[in-house]
Formats: sequence, structure tokens, C-alpha cells
Amino acid sequence: MKSVIRGTGSYLPEKILTNFDLEKMVETSDAWIRERTGIQCRHIADKEEYTSTLAIHAAKEALKNAHLTGEDIDLIILATTTPDDTTPATAVRVQEAIGMTHGFAFDIQAACSGFMYALNVANQFILNKSIKTALVIGAETLSRIVDWKDRNTCVLFGDGAGAAVISASTEEDGEAGILDIVLHSDGRFRNLLTTTGGVSRTQTTGYVLMEGREVFRHAVMNLTDVAEEVLNRTHTDKNTVDFLVPHQANVRIIEGTAKKLNIPMERVIVTLTEHGNTSAASIPLALHHGIASGKLKKGHLILLDAMGGGFTWAGALIRL
Ligand code: UT7
Repeated sequence: MKSVIRGTGSYLPEKILTNFDLEKMVETSDAWIRERTGIQCRHIADKEEYTSTLAIHAAKEALKNAHLTGEDIDLIILATTTPDDTTPATAVRVQEAIGMTHGFAFDIQAACSGFMYALNVANQFILNKSIKTALVIGAETLSRIVDWKDRNTCVLFGDGAGAAVISASTEEDGEAGILDIVLHSDGRFRNLLTTTGGVSRTQTTGYVLMEGREVFRHAVMNLTDVAEEVLNRTHTDKNTVDFLVPHQANVRIIEGTAKKLNIPMERVIVTLTEHGNTSAASIPLALHHGIASGKLKKGHLILLDAMGGGFTWAGALIRL
């Protein structure tokens, strides 16, 4: 028995902030941002839009595509670094909004690897038969914790949400399902990508702080290693992978990883051009984009990998 993806959804706020808009805010240029990151614009949540608002839109679309309702869901795990409130979990707002009155819902924080962590936890609940169906969400309003005067970070991040419904496989699913997920973290590197404060330490949320060059170096290395680890654990020849769905932080990181894995860029999903780095929302946004655009098809073998603050990093192999 495996967990199978039944439907995906995503949501990006309407307001768009282009590189040209940023030129008016900090000392930067469209050319620099494009060349160094590949990003052209990012979406910014409206004042009245919260992480839960974005998550609810994505969740409803994933449910619709899975032909299910809130009552069919036993578990919601929402990965975020930017929850609506310190407590309760943002996931319970989604629970209420989709009309799910049974089961349980909670948040996970693993920075940009959050969706992969959430997917693995949900997968374990399905594999041990505690639940049948889970809604896994990555949602962020990073614009709220970005220092808009810091050009090292403010050009990189954006707001968004992505969601996937997964449930236990039946005979009809054949080979489809999550084949493996590997999670890693190493707290020795926690200061390389962090915030200037937090609830307990400063009683503020703090702003994103990053040693870009160092994070970049570790990212290519960790993303390649974890992808190879998943391929080795599942005895999978990398040439049989149909698509790589990577964390969308920087197109140069994606190209570097794909090159090391010997996967041509035609077989890589790239969405960061349109929305920058959306942290925990990045993988499900790319996954949904791939499916909705028809690139990712039923039967495809897809490799997912993510890396973020902590450091945390993760890889997964999924047959759609
Ligand atoms: O989601 C989790 C992980 N996050 C990431 O993966 C991000 C990883 N890091 C990166 O993507 C890249 O390191 C950055 C995009 C953040 C920076 O690119 P880089 O090629 O590593 O640039 P750099 O930090 O080496 O900086 C090169 C120059 C510096 O000027 P000097 O010292 O050479 O005079 C920076 O001050 O570019 C300058 N710079 C900028 N210039 C224009 C830094 N940010 C900007 C900017 N606009 N926004």
C-alpha cells in the first residue's frame, strides 16, 4: 500500500511586485535580479489576506481536483514559517473553512522544506493505517517577515500556497504512489538562514536574514545528495525520472542541481520566474503548475527536492 496524490491546487495573491517596482525601493536592477536568480516578479498578499486565506484557496482547489469534500479529509498538515497567529495552528482555520469537523489538523515548521516534511508525516499516518486521506499544504506570507530595505533578501521572496490531497492506494492505482521520502536537517547551520527574532527570544516575528552565498553552496550540494539518496534507496536509474520538481529559490541552484543529476532542463519544472521563493509553498506550487499545465502526467516518475533554513533538506520520488 502507498499514498497516492489525488488532486493538487495552488493560489497566488493578485498583487504583483515586479523587479522594476523593486528598483524604486532598494538599490537593485531588473538585470541583476534576473541574471542572479531568474526571478521576474513575485505575488504579495493583500492587507486582508493571511497565510490561511491563501491556504484555503489552494486547499479548495486540491479538493475539487480530487473530487472530494472537507468531510473526506482525516488530517490536515500545513507547513508554514508565517502562521496567522502564534496559536492556534493555521491548519485549524483551513479545517473550519473546508467544513471538516472530524479528524485533526496541525502546522509544521521546516522552512522551505516544510511541504516535504508535511508530506512525509501525512504519508506515515496513511501507511500505518491511522487515517485514509490527508490534505497537505504549504502556505506562506513571507512578505510580512521580509525586510523591504534589505536588497540581499527582499528581491527573492514572495507569497503563495499549494496543496495536495493524498490517500491510500487501491488495486486500480497500479504503480502510482509515493515511493520514498527522505528528510534531513543540520542545526549547526541554523544561523545562515534565520530571522532577527522570534516569539520566545524577542517577542517579535523578526525579519529574514541570510548568508546568500553560503546557502547557495550548501543548497546545490544538499539537493544533489538527497536526490541521489532517494534514487539509490529506491534502486531507480536517474534516466527513468520523467521530471524534477525542485524547490524554487534560484534558477542557478536549480540548473546546478539538474546538471549534477544529469537531468536536462526540459525535464525540470521552473516556476520561480513568476513568484520567486515562496518557501514551504514552493514545491506544491510547482507540482500543481506541472500537473495543471499538462507537463506532469499520470504514470510519470517525478523527483522532488527542497532545501531551506535549519538547514533542512528533503527528497522524494513519486509515481503520479
Ligand atoms: O530557500 C532557501 C534557500 N535560499 C536560497 O537558496 C538562496 C541562496 N542564495 C542565492 O540565491 C544567492 O546567493 C543570492 C541571489 C542571494 C545572491 O546571489 P550571488 O550571486 O550569490 O551574489 P552575492 O551575494 O555574491 O553578491 C554579489 C554582489 C555583491 O556586491 P559586491 O560585494 O560584489 O560589491 C552584493 O552586495 O551583488 C550585490 N547584491 C545585489 N546587487 C543588486 C546583493 N543583492 C543585490 C541586489 N541587487 N538585490
